Amino acid sequence: MANDTTIQIPTVQLHDGGEIPLVGTGTLFAKGNELADLLAQTIRDGYRLLDTAAQYANEGAVGEAIRRSGVPRNEIFLTTKVAGMDQGHHLTRRGLVESLRRLNTDYVDLLLIHWPNPSRGLAVETWAEMLELQAEGLVTHVGVSNFLPHQIEELHAATGVWPVVDQIQLSPALARTELRAFLAARGIVAQGWRPLGGHEQPMGQIITGKIARRLGVDVSQVVLRWAVQQGIVVIPSSGNPTRWHANADLFGFELTAQDMIDLATLDLGEDAAWDATTHEEW
Ligand SMILES: NC(=O)c1ccc[n+]([C@@H]2O[C@H](COP(=O)([O-])OP(=O)(O)OC[C@H]3O[C@@H](n4cnc5c(N)ncnc54)[C@H](OP(=O)(O)O)[C@@H]3O)[C@@H](O)[C@H]2O)c1
Repeated sequence: MANDTTIQIPTVQLHDGGEIPLVGTGTLFAKGNELADLLAQTIRDGYRLLDTAAQYANEGAVGEAIRRSGVPRNEIFLTTKVAGMDQGHHLTRRGLVESLRRLNTDYVDLLLIHWPNPSRGLAVETWAEMLELQAEGLVTHVGVSNFLPHQIEELHAATGVWPVVDQIQLSPALARTELRAFLAARGIVAQGWRPLGGHEQPMGQIITGKIARRLGVDVSQVVLRWAVQQGIVVIPSSGNPTRWHANADLFGFELTAQDMIDLATLDLGEDAAWDATTHEEW
């Protein structure tokens, strides 16, 4: 499907032998017909990694976008997530079957546990069921989202399997350095949600502006390049089609070692991130 205007996005290896595009698109910016149209265009433009979740109530539109795009399903890397209320034995399976129906597909490429929700104590059961679903071919890769090291270790202790991905709140303003070192040591790919930084506003800082001007790129590209240069997968979302190309056009320039040192000064520290030991989403 590639043509001259299609964005080319490199991939990174997953520890189970698969690979995932370094840049994808989030889907939180719209729902319904609007999302289906915009996302179909994003796919035609070259994005292949799509991030949705049962909790976003937009899986139907994501499935429709894939259909409208005309791009074959096997060229798409589709991620969805187990909702809080779908955690636990049997419920995880039921939740995935419902997601597949809404997405109009018979498998997802990556299934994540959306939040660990420690007060419910169902993450290990959920993980074990996800491994069954993977063995049955309904899910190609299994991972987690918003998990901290001790929460990942619990999954591994019970099953012997590490997630391939941990999707976490991540930007130069929330660099999650220790968490990322834990993930890297186990071959788990870090994937950044809210990679443009949201309220922490790394795009509004003097240093990002200075680097962007020197390189002749947008500040958003500096912020996203900080991630992909370190092998972090990003899933920026935009309802503005003119921004899609810039958000994936990250591979024709490089940040210097000094840029990385300067950007490290923006890190607000782990305490500024949503705390997965207390924040729960059902
Ligand atoms: N696992 C989780 O718990 C979790 C939590 C939150 C999000 N997510 C996932 O992560 C995805 C991304 O996170 P997010 O949507 O919260 O944050 P984000 O992608 O970092 O930021 C989105 C915001 O940035 C703006 N934007 C996008 N591209 C831009 C550019 N080039 N220049 C300037 N502004 C730009 C968008 O506005 P416009 O629309 O006006 O461009 C929007 O307001 C979500 O869509 C979702 O799939 C996962």
